[in-house]
Amino acid sequence: MPAAVGKSLRAATVLSVAVLSVLVCLLLGSVHRLGSGHAHPEEELASLRAALSQRLAQRRQEILPLLSPGRDEEPFSAWESFLRDELTRGPAARAPLGCGALRDAQPLEVLGSGYTKLVVKVTLAGGEPVALKMVNENGIDMGKCVEGFKDLHGCRQLVSSKISKEVVLLHRLRHPNVIKLRGHCVGDAGGRVTVILEQGTPLQMLRLLQSPWEDRFRVCLDLVRLLHFLSRSPLGSVALLDFQPRQFVMVSGELKLTDLDDASVAATPCGRHADCFLQFPHRNFTLACSSRGLCEGLNEKMNIYNAYRYFFTYLLPHQAPPGLTHLVERIMNATGELKADINETLDAFEHILQLYQSGLHLDKLPTSALRDYNVTRGMTTSGDEDYRCWPSYSQQGCVLSVHSATEAAHICNSHSQCTSFTLTGQKTWAGRPLATFRSSFSFLVPDQTSEVYVKKSTAV
Ligand SMILES: Nc1ncnc2c1ncn2[C@@H]1O[C@H](COP(=O)(O)OP(=O)(O)O)[C@@H](O)[C@H]1O
Ligand SMILES: *[C@@H]1O[C@H](CO)[C@@H](O)[C@H](O)[C@H]1NC(C)=O
Ligand SMILES: *[C@@H]1O[C@H](CO)[C@@H](O)[C@H](O)[C@H]1NC(C)=O
Ligand SMILES: *[C@@H]1O[C@H](CO)[C@@H](O)[C@H](O)[C@H]1NC(C)=O
Ligand SMILES: *[C@@H]1O[C@H](CO)[C@@H](O)[C@H](O)[C@H]1NC(C)=O
Ligand SMILES: [Mg+2]
Repeated sequence: MPAAVGKSLRAATVLSVAVLSVLVCLLLGSVHRLGSGHAHPEEELASLRAALSQRLAQRRQEILPLLSPGRDEEPFSAWESFLRDELTRGPAARAPLGCGALRDAQPLEVLGSGYTKLVVKVTLAGGEPVALKMVNENGIDMGKCVEGFKDLHGCRQLVSSKISKEVVLLHRLRHPNVIKLRGHCVGDAGGRVTVILEQGTPLQMLRLLQSPWEDRFRVCLDLVRLLHFLSRSPLGSVALLDFQPRQFVMVSGELKLTDLDDASVAATPCGRHADCFLQFPHRNFTLACSSRGLCEGLNEKMNIYNAYRYFFTYLLPHQAPPGLTHLVERIMNATGELKADINETLDAFEHILQLYQSGLHLDKLPTSALRDYNVTRGMTTSGDEDYRCWPSYSQQGCVLSVHSATEAAHICNSHSQCTSFTLTGQKTWAGRPLATFRSSFSFLVPDQTSEVYVKKSTAV
């Protein structure tokens, strides 16, 4: 793990310990005050209960403005039916799943858990695999609440209200890079909310660090597309307050945001520029205070810097194609210094994608390299002797994505073991063909989709 990750992890741990101890002190203080104010334990419990209901009411109040326009006039108790109405509206809408869908669901395994929620993998009665999100009974949120309020049912409701907020946000912020909401179920008297989601796999940063640049670039591009959407979402500009890789999952190679309960749509009021202060562990920024008395682009900028520090620094520069490194460095600098807004950042990413897909970044590659090879179309090889390269798409051999046979010939020439390569019919997400490089093979076998290139100097 890079030193910077270790450092920020340590910083985060120190911070959370500090926050926790402050909370514990506050809590002990308030329990103490309550104890001295109320002679009877029943009174104490009653006042705790009142405090908990007040918290719950506050949480619900936060959800109302997130519902469709006009709906926020209506009582909270109706939010669930609004959602049901909305989810079923529109020609292409798939029927949302409800409690009924969960009746015969088979829980398979735990996919992940956090402070608030537990996520399990299940297969619905019809065979559809989904992820269920619910209150994490052993999580920090439940633990702190039960310790403070001594009311298991009430705390489940309070923690569930975070999940309700997430359901509303997932519904209103639909985007290809936000996890798909399949439905939800509200159990016993609002005590438990279960969310039914498209199933993904938790983002594994360490594995991603070892994968080809093309796949790492895709994660960053997906993230930027998401942030572009969030900056002008139906709810306004959304900031992700808890922006960390663990709030995302992968679904068939695509990055999707799954933890939305810490999303904020609030604008930051200001009187002068100094009020628009953005603080990060290694960097501070002061943004402009607009004439309308709001910090300009604060949510957007906060997201961009977090994308830079949690994703780009680890995923983007390392092993970038030589023809693209100057563009990647420009993005790193512009996002790390908050010099570009999300529109400019997205444009820069899409430009790199376009160059990469069209092979324009390879313009200086001489095509003469291909003259060293004898090509046989409609064939592939058998009895291969493979060698390994990095970062290969296959564990056993050397499989890389290329733009063309010419690029593959250059790669083969640069590997001392390489004597032939095959362009397979397979393509990466970016539409680039996969090439298999090898040191030798026994014979050719027919394969409509493949072409075998054998180095002339070594062919016998
Ligand atoms: N749809 C999903 N598919 C697979 N894993 C998921 C899915 N949603 C969440 N997870 C995993 O569950 C963990 C907890 O979910 P999250 O919403 O982040 O809860 P919390 O608010 O407690 O952090 C995530 O870190 C992620 O690894
Ligand atoms: C950021 O601001 C805080 C608070 O003013 C300050 O203590 C810290 O040293 C600053 N950090 C950097 C890297 O400038
Ligand atoms: C951006 O570039 C400037 C000037 O080259 C340099 O001083 C700065 O450290 C760079 N910032 C980042 C975040 O890369
Ligand atoms: C970003 O682009 C959108 C249109 O896609 C435009 O409405 C918006 O004003 C742009 N934002 C900035 C800061 O230029
Ligand atoms: C190239 O292939 C052709 C036919 O496939 C063969 O006749 C020729 O000898 C090959 N040349 C070399 C140098 O391998
Ligand atoms: Mg989370």
